[in-house]
Amino acid sequence: MCFTPVDDVECLASWLRGLGVLGVFWAKRVKGIEVVSRNPPTLVLKWQRSRRSKRAILTLCYVASHGCLDSLQGLVGKEDTDILLVTASELAQGQYDRWSKIFVYDVNGSFLDPNHEVSVEVYGPESINDYVTPIVEAVQKSSWGFYNPPPKGVYVLVARLHNGEPVGSAYYNRASSNVDFGIHVTKPYWRRRIGTRLLVEVARLAKSLDHGWVSVVRVIRGMKPTLSDRRAIAFYRANNPKHELNVYRLSMC
Ligand SMILES: CC(C)(COP(=O)(O)OP(=O)(O)OC[C@H]1O[C@@H](n2cnc3c(N)ncnc32)[C@H](O)[C@@H]1OP(=O)(O)O)[C@@H](O)C(=O)NCCC(=O)NCCS
Repeated sequence: MCFTPVDDVECLASWLRGLGVLGVFWAKRVKGIEVVSRNPPTLVLKWQRSRRSKRAILTLCYVASHGCLDSLQGLVGKEDTDILLVTASELAQGQYDRWSKIFVYDVNGSFLDPNHEVSVEVYGPESINDYVTPIVEAVQKSSWGFYNPPPKGVYVLVARLHNGEPVGSAYYNRASSNVDFGIHVTKPYWRRRIGTRLLVEVARLAKSLDHGWVSVVRVIRGMKPTLSDRRAIAFYRANNPKHELNVYRLSMC
């Protein structure tokens, strides 16, 4: 039983398998995962499809000590392989070329007091249909301007006002216990704790499905967080994550 996805190398491997639907630089569909070391937890990830590289070596160093970084630097640039570091530390710009945040919540954790005025509907993987998807599409287009359709097998959560208006959404992926593509609230309703309510409901759902944690991933598109990255990070951080981690793709140098 894993209490978080970073408990040990097996928990990390099984979480990464489920995260493949995200298709981001460090979480893509894999055709194989091999354990290289338990301490520090290190895996070789063989991508199913990737334009840039065939595989990656991913290491978890909770603290990015010199020893850990030195052993990784020797691998950078080798044989079509990306080097990925998962760490609670922050690296200096120049040490990496891609960056992502991970927030991990305990399902019994102390979230902020959520909005109690909205209602939240949960649609199971079998009941996602042409009624639900346009609702989520409208919410996402208002929250971050584009739409990621629900990956196969996710639960969909929709938050509504009393008058039925949809104002928030989230996808919960049971395979990874991850909130795929994050929490979304329509722009006119930001800062009313509706995002927090969705996070609390996702945690409740995860618990009911026997998971001890919920994770969420935010990829930082450039070298520095944009305003929308900073908003999302502030929201996830304010809700008392058990772990706040970074994933870096180390630069070729
Ligand atoms: C991120 C998002 C979901 C937050 O939803 P929300 O309903 O506005 O958030 P909440 O009201 O629950 O905020 C809870 C806490 O988060 C922090 N927070 C939220 N928005 C913030 C902002 N713009 N600036 C600073 N802190 C913020 C605050 O501490 C806030 O607590 P407070 O009410 O005491 O100030 C919403 O801004 C959104 O949909 N953004 C666009 C989509 C997106 O990027 N989603 C994340 C994908 S990874």
